[in-house]
Amino acid sequence: MAREMKSNGNSDTAIQDDRNEPLHPEESPFEENLTPLARMREEARTGGGSQKIEQQHARGKLTARERIELLLDAGSFEEFDMLKGGRGDHLTTGKRYLGDGVITGHGAIDGREIFVFSQDFTVIGGSLGEAHSEKISKVMDHAVRVGAPVVGINDSGGARIQEGVDALAAYGQIFNRNVMASGVIPQISCIMGPCAGGAVYSPAITDFIFMVEDSSHMFVTGPSVVKTVIHQDISFEELGGAGVHGGKSGVAHFVLPNDILCLREVRRLINYLPSNNLQEPPLLDLKDPIDRRDPALDYLVPANPNHPYDMKVLVHSILDGAEFFEVHGHWARNLIVGFGRLGGKTIGLIANQPSVLAGVLDNNASVKGARFVRFCDAFNIPLICLVDVPGFMPGPEQEHGGIIRHGAKLLYAFIEASVPRLTVVMRKAYGGAYIVMNSKHIGADINYAWPTAEIAVLGPRGAAEVIYRKEIESSADPTASLLEKEALYRKTFANPFLAAQRGYIDDVIFPRETRGRLIRSLQALEGKKTARLERKHGNIPL
Ligand code: HXC
Repeated sequence: MAREMKSNGNSDTAIQDDRNEPLHPEESPFEENLTPLARMREEARTGGGSQKIEQQHARGKLTARERIELLLDAGSFEEFDMLKGGRGDHLTTGKRYLGDGVITGHGAIDGREIFVFSQDFTVIGGSLGEAHSEKISKVMDHAVRVGAPVVGINDSGGARIQEGVDALAAYGQIFNRNVMASGVIPQISCIMGPCAGGAVYSPAITDFIFMVEDSSHMFVTGPSVVKTVIHQDISFEELGGAGVHGGKSGVAHFVLPNDILCLREVRRLINYLPSNNLQEPPLLDLKDPIDRRDPALDYLVPANPNHPYDMKVLVHSILDGAEFFEVHGHWARNLIVGFGRLGGKTIGLIANQPSVLAGVLDNNASVKGARFVRFCDAFNIPLICLVDVPGFMPGPEQEHGGIIRHGAKLLYAFIEASVPRLTVVMRKAYGGAYIVMNSKHIGADINYAWPTAEIAVLGPRGAAEVIYRKEIESSADPTASLLEKEALYRKTFANPFLAAQRGYIDDVIFPRETRGRLIRSLQALEGKKTARLERKHGNIPL
């Protein structure tokens, strides 16, 4: 069902909360009740006080409330539990803060309802105690009941030390809900300050993690513990900054330079997603003709099979309005994953990137692809796979790092996916990597190849060396003999026509017509249904 997207327009303006207006006791017959309510609301809004708010701003961070205002459509936020008090800091100040360091409620993103919590670092460092956790649990329960996404904004010193084991139990309540909501509603985490210790595991269970450069950090044990235990000096940034998690560990899916841009990106992401697993993703007509052809694509693949090209040229060319929302853009860049639209409908795209490590599949790329495929399948988002893969990365580093386990994840995820699945092979599709990249043999619905595709067991050089080894070694000129055999192999096997003859490729298409063929195929697969045997759950090789 098509949804109308309203423009944002709230990012530079503060929410006009009518409850913020001064009360006029003389006009009210309930003066004695209204005045304390107004006072309490004001107290809750002030959080940890003006000095703490100034400190927050001085660090380049927005406050918890400012973040909610930027995230949601102007004026749409409705708050819960503003007056809920914490258990109190009995060890030190004895003070109880209204709201207990987290702001919770619901509002809209482009007119669609979402639930939100935003930790307030100005109140006891945003630390999580019992009441704080109950507030988060409440919005998560609401979100699951009504089938709406949850966005959690994390800025916290972790379990509130003064609440002892109750604070740990409180985290358990949230972890439980994260897991039960997984695959039911989209869960998005923004890390906008510290997120340390066991507290990292709530965001880690959610679907997407956004981090902000310089101001956000995630680690299981901080620099001081690292120093004590393994005697290594390391800064917060080097241990768990946005750069590290966006580029090295893969923990963060998105890294943005500041809070404002981060929250804008969350809004963009939400617009690609359905509100829950029973809904289709929202439709958005970008007025891009279905049959738009791009003749430049006929020249995208270089004549020399060893030369790289940028797969993103093809990605942008085929998608509606050339708009691509890349996920994990800084990690495992040899595989591209992200969202776009085809004929107005959200699709999840998985593509090898020949310009990074020749597009080879390695451990990180396999895990990245597998997780993305599973998200799309859980939320009814069709998969489009663009293939140019020379194989799995060889060598002890990858083998010992678990390429067998990790590659199996990608294989498992594709086979398990019951959403419409399309594949186009641009160039190389060799061996196991060909099969894993959404081939017909593992259940893809419609598979196309460009005339430049090379679908075979091995690349021409490797294959010639194996099957003609004796002939090459005994020839007068082994180099010339290898080249000759390579050319023979290429002509015989490294093309799409053998696969097309066998029906493993449904059609060999001109590159320029790729967009139209994909959209027509998606239309044909609209009513796809699959039956599965009953089971508790499979055992994906985690
Ligand atoms: C209680 C805390 C707190 C906490 C911070 N504060 N963390 N209070 N419990 N966990 C308070 C501080 O006392 C301070 O109070 C205020 O918040 C701001 O903290 P600062 O230290 O002044 O801020 P900053 O210098 O920015 O340092 C932030 C910080 C640091 C890096 C987060 O506070 C810190 O290291 N906190 C402890 C982190 C930690 O070890 N947490 C437990 C992790 S284990 P005042 O009154 O001075 O303003 C965990 C287990 C989860 O979370 C379990 C899940 C299974």
